Amino acid sequence: LITDIRLRRILDSRGNPTVEADVVTESGGFGRAAAPSGASTGEYEAVERPPSEAIAAAREHAVPRLVGEVYAGNQRDVDAALHAADGTDDFSEIGANSAVAISMAAAKAGADVLGAPLFQHLGGTFRGDGFPIPLGNVVGGGEHAADATDIQEFLAAPVGAPSIADAVFANAAVHAAVADLLEERDVPCGKGDEGAWAPSIDDGEAFEIVAEAVSMVQGEVGFNIGFGLDVAGAELYDSDSETYEYSDRSRDTDEQIAYIADLVEEYDLVYVEDPLDEDDYDAFADLTDEVGDQTLICGDDLFVTNTDRLVNGIDRGAANSILIKPNQIGTLSDAFDAIELATENGYDSVVSHRSGETEDATIAHLAVATDAPFIKTGAVGGERTAKLNELIRIADDAT
Ligand code: PGA
Ligand code: ZN
Repeated sequence: LITDIRLRRILDSRGNPTVEADVVTESGGFGRAAAPSGASTGEYEAVERPPSEAIAAAREHAVPRLVGEVYAGNQRDVDAALHAADGTDDFSEIGANSAVAISMAAAKAGADVLGAPLFQHLGGTFRGDGFPIPLGNVVGGGEHAADATDIQEFLAAPVGAPSIADAVFANAAVHAAVADLLEERDVPCGKGDEGAWAPSIDDGEAFEIVAEAVSMVQGEVGFNIGFGLDVAGAELYDSDSETYEYSDRSRDTDEQIAYIADLVEEYDLVYVEDPLDEDDYDAFADLTDEVGDQTLICGDDLFVTNTDRLVNGIDRGAANSILIKPNQIGTLSDAFDAIELATENGYDSVVSHRSGETEDATIAHLAVATDAPFIKTGAVGGERTAKLNELIRIADDAT
């Protein structure tokens, strides 16, 4: 039984406050987890409140429904109590940041009570023995860095890696190779919010550099490395003009679809996230129709880890993959439901970090527990390596 819940403000990787939760149980179990935070947030995400308000509201409404009432190991009960405490359908009362921190901390406390690793507690004994392929952000801009690329993320995808460790090191090597190529071209640059290089170059030059870096590293490691994109199309889309606004030109929806399809062909992209606006299921469906057998078309802002939106997408053939961010929906149970629905319908799940992160590594366990084929959690930087190194430890543990 949960006997205590403590909530506090801690720092995230952008230097903003976020919510951390501690959950303590009667039998001495302990779990601690922190909420991440997005910058290019989807319009239909569960609502994040200012941490001090989210904490106050959770103390008033959620803590009394959990402490002395619910077992930490009963994740469905914990998450049902969070929903009941909140009373809205978007967590706008207690805040999705308080909800997700408590939900994840309870899961860790439940695992602690069992003496099992978190992935084992969440996934159970019948989970598979694969590992998720990490998608590593190596160049980016958009909402994550000023004066850099229009496309938000260029992601290394070591699809042929024989192990999680090989995949993690390959992504770091691509990140380093990109730096070398930028230096050769005399392009100075810093990093964006997720640790990707954020040079002031156009997208065309970024494609050249990433393609070259990927092929250099592929030659060294001897397994297949592809790359992909998070276009974050909703951030480029102007709903007044109904066009996608790039630095050098604009594209209407048909032109955007053709542009992305051409990129898939030219660079053999293995992954394209949010190529189109978050309201445009039809355009997503047209693109998926065109290139969905060659690449993953993934909905992030489109689906926001929400099963209602995913059902709509499945009905309309809008994509073949879904991004899973627990804080977009507020609880681990809801994230599990989205993954299960996706898997049943042949959609690949990509468990994901946010641009604002902490040392919390819950998503590494979530990806392993659910047999998610991909995880997106950056390539370098402490709050990113927290997850990557946890994946290496899990693989070491589980084999
Ligand atoms: P965000 O970006 O965390 O800023 O929303 C990540 C993404 O769009 O995938
Ligand atoms: Zn995204």
